[in-house]
Amino acid sequence: MLENKRILLGITGSIAAYKSALLARELQRRGAEVRVVMSQAAIDFITPLTLATLTGHRVYSDFTENKDQGTWTNHVDLGLWADAFLIAPATAQTLSSMVQGSGDSFLLAVHLSSRCPVIVAPAMDLDMFTHPATQENLSTLAQRGVGIIEPESGPLASGLDGKGRMAEPEHIADWMEKWFRDAAPLSGRRVLITAGPTHEPIDAVRFIGNRSSGKMGYALAEAFIQLGADVLLISGPVQLNPPAGVHEFVKVETAQDMYDAAMARFEGCDVAVAAAAVADARPTTPSDRKLHKGELPAAIALEPTLDILAAWGKNKTPTQTVVGFALETDNGEASAKSKLERKQADFIVLNTTADEGAGFGTDTNRITIFEKNGDSHKFELKSKAKVAEDIVTTLLKRILS
Ligand SMILES: Cc1cc2nc3c(=O)[nH]c(=O)nc-3n(C[C@H](O)[C@H](O)[C@H](O)COP(=O)(O)O)c2cc1C
Repeated sequence: MLENKRILLGITGSIAAYKSALLARELQRRGAEVRVVMSQAAIDFITPLTLATLTGHRVYSDFTENKDQGTWTNHVDLGLWADAFLIAPATAQTLSSMVQGSGDSFLLAVHLSSRCPVIVAPAMDLDMFTHPATQENLSTLAQRGVGIIEPESGPLASGLDGKGRMAEPEHIADWMEKWFRDAAPLSGRRVLITAGPTHEPIDAVRFIGNRSSGKMGYALAEAFIQLGADVLLISGPVQLNPPAGVHEFVKVETAQDMYDAAMARFEGCDVAVAAAAVADARPTTPSDRKLHKGELPAAIALEPTLDILAAWGKNKTPTQTVVGFALETDNGEASAKSKLERKQADFIVLNTTADEGAGFGTDTNRITIFEKNGDSHKFELKSKAKVAEDIVTTLLKRILS
């Protein structure tokens, strides 16, 4: 959930500031881009050099950059850049200043001008934390929508023991992930996706397959995960790693395996996307041992496999959205529209092998999406990751309605 998230990390003057270096590292490890703002007091605890080196970006702590030249740092731009402003550690002083709406430091001015959500991880001695002033400040901030990451209990720098130490960096990163997930538009929605080819055995070592790389289905899984959905990915044999954050990942070989896995998980899904290139037919009598050269039949008898998209279309409830893919070599639009109707799908995504850079094995695709209501949306050739975003954005309108 932190992939590509822009987190502005505010550090204030607590002894816990040394943990901010680990926190910056942890947020980056989970995919976030981190920039740092420090209060003047924080600089007494940890150097900007450390944070700048770890994040790869200069650290901000002053309004002016070069007093002689009159150059200054734009606190408004920083506030606008961030997806979230996380102040960790947040001192009692900074919490109080935030409540007052003070703007007499660079960090506080960023707080006032940021449009993104603000989150604080308080850190202080236990008596400072339990003081009614601090507690009132925290509840005022919470009422204003500021996220509060509760401090943890344990030995404190003062020598006392109790609640007040800043939450551990890993716990803060977990909190941020959960928070982004809960705030995401598809939070709590289940999305079932099939991807890749299937292999239909001829004998113990030979199979009938196809050229599907699985890239489109995997890109879709990633796009849905980014929007907070619980993604169940059923994949045929491909050379790809399961996307980070996938809820359930099932690896299958044959069309029958994929059908069984897809049907077992269909109930309770909000969206089901059939992006796999499932074999339409399989050898009728595969051998369970390797056939010798001389034993290979002149012709292989085939029988049809079960149709996942049609089964989903037939069994879907009014709240479920079913999406199919059509890969055509010619006459694409007519085939896609006919598939939409025959399979009782809500959307068909058409790509044709006739388009250069589109279809199997490529990193790019050019698609047209046909909707049940007759609408269609044509997109330019772009990366499969961008195509996945286009598909998800088009689906969102229906899913969220
Ligand atoms: C060694 C030392 C440790 C401190 N630790 C904390 C702390 O954990 N929490 C806190 O609220 N203040 C702490 N303070 C006090 C703050 O540094 C002080 O209130 C400062 O004005 C905070 O400014 P800032 O919020 O702008 O960073 C500490 C001070 C010292 C000297």
